[in-house]
Order: sequence, then structure tokens, then C-alpha cells
Amino acid sequence: MTYKHFFIKAPIVSLKGQPAILFDGKKATLLEALEYKKVKVFSECRNGFCGACKTEVISGEVTYIKEPLAELKANECLPCCCIPQTDLNLALSMENVELVVRSKSINKKTLTQSKDAIELAYNIETATAQQS
Ligand code: FES
Repeated sequence: MTYKHFFIKAPIVSLKGQPAILFDGKKATLLEALEYKKVKVFSECRNGFCGACKTEVISGEVTYIKEPLAELKANECLPCCCIPQTDLNLALSMENVELVVRSKSINKKTLTQSKDAIELAYNIETATAQQS
């Protein structure tokens, strides 16, 4: 048995090529995950019957939690009753989507400069102490 069986990458859901959601399984369906991020998807039955939530899939694959009754084309999915199986690119708008922005990383150069400043201050203090 390898670690490959334990660590499976969570699918990334993109909207028109823009990554928007890391589908980590906290939401039961793709529709819930999209709604949580405030992506506008029209829905009615939320069970795969009506086809109201039909969404165009640009790339990627989904798995259905239960087999949908609504008729679908090969490049469509019903977010109300599926989850992403692979990274997914949907033809949905990014309008109103809340994205998490990473905080600025610490600049390595700044750290080096700070260290240099501390060393310089130490050297000045040491030289001053030796003179007096
Ligand atoms: S909301 Fe009816 S099929 Fe998705």
C-alpha cells in the first residue's frame, strides 16, 4: 500500500478558467459549494429532476451522488446532485465570488536587511565601548 491511497488532492473548481473553490468535501454538493462562494446558479428541485441548475462544463469530470433524471448534454452537469471528480472548469461568472487572498509573505530581503542592521548596531556599540 502506498501513500497515494491516503492523500488525494481536493479538486479545484474554476469559473471560466479562474480558480474559485477548493472542493474539500465540506459541502455535500457542487451547488452548495458554489452557493457558499456566492456564485449565482439558478436551481429549483435540488435533486436532479428539473434540470434548472444545468451548467456547462468546459473541462473536468463530475460524479453524481444519485443518478439525475434531467436530460444532459455531454458537456453539462447538474451541480445540485454532483461533486467534482477532477479539477473542474465551469462556464459560470465570477461576479460576486468571494475569493480568499493570501496575506503577504515575508520578504526574505527584508529579513536579511534587518539582520544586517542588527549586526551593524552591535558592531557600533562594541566599537564605542572599546573606545571608552
Ligand atoms: S435544481 Fe433541479 S436538477 Fe438541479
